[in-house]
Amino acid sequence: MDLVVRRARLTGGAEPVDLAVQDGRIALLAPSLDVRGRVELDADGRLVTPSLVEPHIHLDAVLTVGQPRYNQSGSLFEGIEIWAERVRSLTHEDVKHRAHQALRWMLVHGVTHVRTHVDVCDPSLTALRALLEVKREVAPTVQVQIVAFPQQGIYSFPDGERLVQEAVRLGADVVGGIPHYEWTREYGERDVKFALKLAAEQGLLADLHCDETDDDQSRFLEVLCAETIRLGLQGRVTASHTTAMHSYNNAYAYRLLRWIRHAGVHFITNPLDNAVLQGRFDAYPVRRGYTRIKELLANGINVAVGHDSIMDPWYPLGVGDPLQAAFVLVHYGHMSGYEEIRELVRMVTTRAARCLGLEDHRIEPGAPANFVVFDATSEFDAIRTLAPRRWVVAGGRVVARTDPSRSFVRLDGGEEEVTFHPHGHR
Ligand code: FE2
Repeated sequence: MDLVVRRARLTGGAEPVDLAVQDGRIALLAPSLDVRGRVELDADGRLVTPSLVEPHIHLDAVLTVGQPRYNQSGSLFEGIEIWAERVRSLTHEDVKHRAHQALRWMLVHGVTHVRTHVDVCDPSLTALRALLEVKREVAPTVQVQIVAFPQQGIYSFPDGERLVQEAVRLGADVVGGIPHYEWTREYGERDVKFALKLAAEQGLLADLHCDETDDDQSRFLEVLCAETIRLGLQGRVTASHTTAMHSYNNAYAYRLLRWIRHAGVHFITNPLDNAVLQGRFDAYPVRRGYTRIKELLANGINVAVGHDSIMDPWYPLGVGDPLQAAFVLVHYGHMSGYEEIRELVRMVTTRAARCLGLEDHRIEPGAPANFVVFDATSEFDAIRTLAPRRWVVAGGRVVARTDPSRSFVRLDGGEEEVTFHPHGHR
C-alpha cells in the first residue's frame, strides 16, 4: 500500500479503524489491517474526516487589507468601493503571489478543494488570467474552481455581459452574479437570468452572490429558484450569502422554502464576513445578517460554510482556516447543540463538497484519498479547540502537517504540562 493510517476515528465515539491507500484512492478500511504501507501514520485515535473544502473565497482580494485604505465603516458597500480602487493597481504577479500564499495557509488547515470567485469587472481580466495559472500550478494537490464573478454588476458595469462570457471562454468553471448590487430590480433579474442561461448553455455550474444585504425587499433568490427549475439546473446552482433571508417576513420565507426545495439550490453562508458586514445601518436592536440556516437544513437543503475573505476590504482577519468560520457560526447562528456542532464539521467538508459537485468526497473504499487527521478525537473537540490538522492527505499523499505546540505551567515549583482536553490525554 502507498499509505496506511492506523487507528483513525471516523467520527466521535466510534472505534478506531485502519485506513489503507493505494493509487490515490482509499483501498481498505477495517479495524486492524494486516497490510504494510510505504508510509505509515499512527492517528492514535484522532478524528479523521474527508478533507476540508472551501466553497467560497475571493482569492483575487486576499491579503490586501489596508490597500489603499482601511474600511472605516465596515460596510459591504465601502468594501466594494475600496476594492474598485485597489483593482486599478492589480498586477498578474501581485494576484498570483497573494493567492499562492493564501492557498498554502488553507492547505495547512486541510483544504484540498477551493471554489474562488474572481472579479471580472476588469476589461483586461488580469485577476482571472492570474488565477487560471495558479489553478494549474497547485493542481492536483489543491483543486480550484474559478467563478466568473461580476463584482460591480453585469448590467451596472460597462460591457458586463461580454466580460463574464469572456471569462468563461478563458476557462472559468462556474458562472457568478450579483443581482442585489445591480442598479435596479430589473437589472438584478436580468443578472440572474443571464448567469443561469450561460451556465445551462455551457454545461457549467452557477454560484451567485444573492441578496447579500439587510434589505428585506431584496428578493432575487426567488428568481434564482424559478430560473433553476425552468432551465432544469437542479443541484447545479448555489446561492451564496442570502443574508436578506434573515430579514424576510416569516410568511414569505416559508413560502420560499418550497421553491428552494424544488430547485435543489445549495446555500453557502459566510459567517466571518457577514457577522461584520451586516446590520451596519441598524439602530438597536441590531440584526444579525445570516441566512436561515436551521430552517434550510431542516428542509433537507444543502448548506455549507464559506470563509469568503482573508484580510481584505470586507474582512480584515483570517488565517485561511474554515474551522474558524464554523466556530463563529456556533455563536452567530445559534448552532451550539451537540449534533449541530457535528453538523458544522460536515458543512466545511462533505456539504461544501456537494456545492462543488464532488459527490465522492467521503471516507470509504474506492473514494479519492483526500482526508485530514485532526489533533482531536471528536468533531466537538475539533471545533472547540480549533484543533490543528496533524496531517493532510490529498490524492493519497501527505501534503501538509502541523506539529502541535505544547504548553506548560509552574505552580508548585515543578513544571506541569497543560492540555485543553478535560479528560486527560487528547
Ligand atoms: Fe463573497
